[in-house]
Amino acid sequence: MCGIVSYIGHRKAVPVLIEGLEKLEYRGYDSAGIATVLDGRIWCEKAVGRISVVAGRVEGKNIPSAVGIGHIRWATHGRPSDINSHPHTDCSGRFAVAHNGIIENFAELKAELQEKGHEFKSQTDTEVLPHLLEELYQGDLVGAVRQAVARLEGSYALAILSSEEPDKIVAVRKDSPLVVGLGQGENFLASDVTAILEYTRDVYILENGDMAVITADGVQLTDREGLPIQREIFHVEWDPVRAEKGGYDHFMLKEIHEQPRALCDTMAGRLKTDHVELAEVSISPETIKALPKIFIVACGTSYHAGMVGKYVIEKLARIPVEVDFASEFRYRDPMLKPEDLVIVISQSGETADTMAALREAKRVGSRILAITNVVGSSVAREADDIIYTWAGPEISVASTKAYTTQVLSLVMLALYFGQVRGTINHEEAEELFTALRLLPEQVETILEQATAIKTIADKIAQNEHVFFIGRSIDHGAALEGALKLKEISYLHAEAYAAGELKHGPLALITNGVPVIALATQDDVYDKMLSNIQEVKAREGYVIAVANEGNEDVANFADEVFYIPRTVKAASAILTVIPLQFLAYYVSLARGCDVDKPRNLAKSVTVE
Ligand code: G6P
Repeated sequence: MCGIVSYIGHRKAVPVLIEGLEKLEYRGYDSAGIATVLDGRIWCEKAVGRISVVAGRVEGKNIPSAVGIGHIRWATHGRPSDINSHPHTDCSGRFAVAHNGIIENFAELKAELQEKGHEFKSQTDTEVLPHLLEELYQGDLVGAVRQAVARLEGSYALAILSSEEPDKIVAVRKDSPLVVGLGQGENFLASDVTAILEYTRDVYILENGDMAVITADGVQLTDREGLPIQREIFHVEWDPVRAEKGGYDHFMLKEIHEQPRALCDTMAGRLKTDHVELAEVSISPETIKALPKIFIVACGTSYHAGMVGKYVIEKLARIPVEVDFASEFRYRDPMLKPEDLVIVISQSGETADTMAALREAKRVGSRILAITNVVGSSVAREADDIIYTWAGPEISVASTKAYTTQVLSLVMLALYFGQVRGTINHEEAEELFTALRLLPEQVETILEQATAIKTIADKIAQNEHVFFIGRSIDHGAALEGALKLKEISYLHAEAYAAGELKHGPLALITNGVPVIALATQDDVYDKMLSNIQEVKAREGYVIAVANEGNEDVANFADEVFYIPRTVKAASAILTVIPLQFLAYYVSLARGCDVDKPRNLAKSVTVE
């Protein structure tokens, strides 16, 4: 998730771009850059780090240009560095591109362009685009963009500037947000309205497949074929603080809603027709086949993703997996061997306990595979193999989209290992591929039912204790649901494997105590029903989460929330979404600080 700002009009562009990018820093802060046209050539200033670095470099330069594009980066392809910062340019320095998204087929395009003599400066996927434009340009920028975009697979919001035609900025959108801001004798482009709110409240919200040609005096909207299209002007009423949250009241709510996009991005370029491709995992098939054991180490929410990962890897790849709290791993003298694989999961990639566990595993000589959201983080730098979750920056302390993309990464890894080891057959693999591709859409349908969960949340918000129960993968999701609730609503929440209820926790179930019963696993459904009945017999208040089409459960539970059906391996991704909403709405009802819960931090860099 990166941010784009562009300007064309009567003001000096550079300050408009810098101020706009400052407002988009919540979308990324690995590096920043701006490009304008100066003396008939593209002029760029870009640097690793926050936008203030670029601002410092241009201060006092008083660049007169009234057109420019800017970018703030959250690294995906290529580590954060000056050279990997956007905008990217072609060999001739006539085309500059700022991009938010992922170009899935960049490797093939890059190879093709290199063969034609193009020299690449960066490791990014984006750089293929200015070189493509250089190749295709024949005096018509819009036409060249149209042809270039036809070659791209993946997601992109693009801002394109050329010294050949400095009177315009060309924008294209597919699966990454982009708005066009409408002014008087000036127009804007931005990833979201926050960046341009100071200048205009009238915007076009571009839709997938839209192209916009923006000049100082007007905006021309077309489809990919160049046919004119109409979009309504949207008048933004939000204040700047709310605008930063995309119109949502809290970052957590915004991030919950970003999950379909985050899941799509995390799958992008990895889920091929019938196999998984993990570009930054280079474990040989022989090693995968011979893997004796996997250890997963992580903290907090990432640990809960690891719990689900254990089920999935053992099921699909038939490799024994142990899951450890990173804070415990070093001190329990684990029976780790050099031939074992250690999977380290960390959203931030900077958690001190996780880093310490990683180093302990390295000391033993085991191979380290990192699942992290931050390119260039400590965990990413020290690991042998990496799967990046492309969730984009997560601001809310309570993790949501990082969790679902971590689980997805683990499922893809398990599928990859399973195919290499021959532990899943063709039909099972096909079923999984279909199920994974459907996930973003299924998450979308759950998001549409948020109000139903709010009603349940309001009913339980004033209780003192809430219990979560589930079996098999549902137990993993229950752990995460309880953590979400306790961390942001300060309500005492505990999760149990449902079969354990009778060994202690049942003593705590009295009249009206809420029990969230996750009942999405067919193979243990009957057992789960027995557990629900145990709770009902003690007059507990049962809120079940079940698969659509399960009418039976409503006969036993007080409330049922239905989620779409998926395969076992992917189920935690769907089951957790209502639990995230539940935590959010209970926190609101109790008047807590949703995004910044007391005593907690987003990234814990001390032991
Ligand atoms: C903190 C955060 C949690 C997070 C945990 C691990 O406690 O508040 O949301 O799950 O750290 O962080 P990591 O960045 O390593 O995933």
